[in-house]
Amino acid sequence: MKIELFNNKVFFKKNGSKKEIHPFWLRERVNGENFVDKGTQQRLFDPTEIKGNIEITNASLSEKFLDIVFNDGVETKLTIQSIINEFSNNNEFKIIEKIKWDSSLNNLNNYEFTSNIFEEKKMYDALITFYKYGFVIFKKVPVENNFIINFANSIGSIRRTNFGEYFNVKSKPNPNDLAYTSLPLAPHTDNPYRNPVPCIQLLHCIENEVSGGYSTLVDGYTVTQKLKIDYPDYFKILTEIKVRYQFVDQDVVLEDWSEMIKLDEYQNFKQVRFSPRLDFVPLMDKEKLDLYYAARNKISELYNSDKYRLEFKLAPGDLLMMDNYRLLHGRTSYDANEGNRFLQGCYIDYDSTEGKLKHLRRKFKI
Ligand SMILES: [Fe+2]
Repeated sequence: MKIELFNNKVFFKKNGSKKEIHPFWLRERVNGENFVDKGTQQRLFDPTEIKGNIEITNASLSEKFLDIVFNDGVETKLTIQSIINEFSNNNEFKIIEKIKWDSSLNNLNNYEFTSNIFEEKKMYDALITFYKYGFVIFKKVPVENNFIINFANSIGSIRRTNFGEYFNVKSKPNPNDLAYTSLPLAPHTDNPYRNPVPCIQLLHCIENEVSGGYSTLVDGYTVTQKLKIDYPDYFKILTEIKVRYQFVDQDVVLEDWSEMIKLDEYQNFKQVRFSPRLDFVPLMDKEKLDLYYAARNKISELYNSDKYRLEFKLAPGDLLMMDNYRLLHGRTSYDANEGNRFLQGCYIDYDSTEGKLKHLRRKFKI
């Protein structure tokens, strides 16, 4: 990518093609102190109020800078790198390459908590690991009731749901969800019926005195890539049919329709939803439903297979942060008479982790 000047026009060359950069695009980016607030980086002018045809009356190019004078008298000095960065047009979080994993993964992505961690390089490393693997475990997090709220709000902002600002995971009488029993929980994603689905779950272990109650994780990315290769018809129908997910309790009825495997605009993995107690496929031709049910059975078999399931025990002070769009989670059963098992959970969204990661990248000049 290269910037060139010709006849007061600015061009960018990329992959053999040369195109003019719209003068207004450059005019919008003028950056003197009269035009941009230093602290917030917000414009001090409204570009929609600039009337008339903006043209460049003078421009010069050096190794690092592009100096421009516009026909409305405004002058600016732009860095070449900032222009190139914008033209790369990449969401940097989408290009952190996902690492597929299965039950053979040995390293559980552990990072020791320290009170300053939210402003340390260690948090940057932990977040990169999170984007690569879909989960990370912080160790030695203070075992205090509700500390999870501080933790979540120190990365970004907590995402409240119908289970409250945070939720307590322990067996309780008359539960409104199987999570609040001592029954095993097969791998699932949380809140598939919400719009939008909460992006990231945090789960903080306060007490774990029982011998069972292992936490389980499955990489939905690994499993769906496997399905795509081995059973392309199953993969296709699960990426096409929108299913209704629903949650009903006394106070609310929540519903959302989505594919079980959602792809992005480039047909790449975006999100999985899996919770076979809450999904309702629409009525379709019998043949199509035959294929759909076979596909759902197959993906369920893969999600539940030992080959893909990571099983580990959370100890008091462990805080598991997992991507609810990529990973499935669950737990093995336990005997509530053996002792206490008490976890606290909450959600945050991707803007929290992305915002923190960008901040730390800026801070440590990475
Ligand atoms: Fe869950």
